[in-house]
Amino acid sequence: MSNRTPIIAGNWKMYKTNVEAAAYLDDFLDLVADIGNVEVILCPSFTVLSELRSLTSDSKVRVAAQNMHFEQEGAYTGEVSPPMLKEIGIDDVVLGHSERREYFNETDTDLARKVVEALKAGFRPILCCGETDEEREAGQTQEKIKRQLLSGLAGIDAAQLATVVIAYEPIWAIGTGKTATPQIAQETSKFIREILAAQFGRDAAQQVRILYGGSVKPANIKELMAEEDIDGALVGGASLAASDFAQIVNFR
Ligand code: PGA
Repeated sequence: MSNRTPIIAGNWKMYKTNVEAAAYLDDFLDLVADIGNVEVILCPSFTVLSELRSLTSDSKVRVAAQNMHFEQEGAYTGEVSPPMLKEIGIDDVVLGHSERREYFNETDTDLARKVVEALKAGFRPILCCGETDEEREAGQTQEKIKRQLLSGLAGIDAAQLATVVIAYEPIWAIGTGKTATPQIAQETSKFIREILAAQFGRDAAQQVRILYGGSVKPANIKELMAEEDIDGALVGGASLAASDFAQIVNFR
């Protein structure tokens, strides 16, 4: 086991209103009262961030945004800026989720700017990467991940890297019920750490938390967390029910 503190993050995507989020927390906070050395993060929609932040203020649960624009302000209809999130007490932000890349055309170039601005504003970015089924079949997994990492992290240095969290999410495993085997998840996470080490140095790379995402459930979290280079999980579907997500958080 490494000495990196595990992170279990729940990505609610476009689910849960404020009323639903409050009802969830009623159950969830009791279930995770004794989590010990695990960081728990909930990632709700923008409209729920503020409410969730205040409802969790007496707990160890952190609240993250699912996206952020790189500009401070401007004529960008529908976008949310770093100072807007800071103002409501948000310190973590998911960047480059595959759904954002696929449906909202987020590019590696956008993400490089988002990562730089997030760090500048004092956020902890959770940068996502991962290959499609076709890319894996064609033996292009490493090439894709390397490109996503090196371009997404192009504007930062080794000291900043320690704050960055990487989420490895094979697209073929997201929402499909088809989890990567612990061996596949470990192999790619190890590769990610090697890329980071080559670019930023071994010490910096050793500090980075690498999360696995893609059909994580109470039944498979333990075996995933047993792997050397997997430091946590980014959970979609199974984070929507408080009892399931609490079981994942309490994986030990
Ligand atoms: P899933 O989603 O757990 O529903 O597969 C993971 C994610 O998209 O972060």
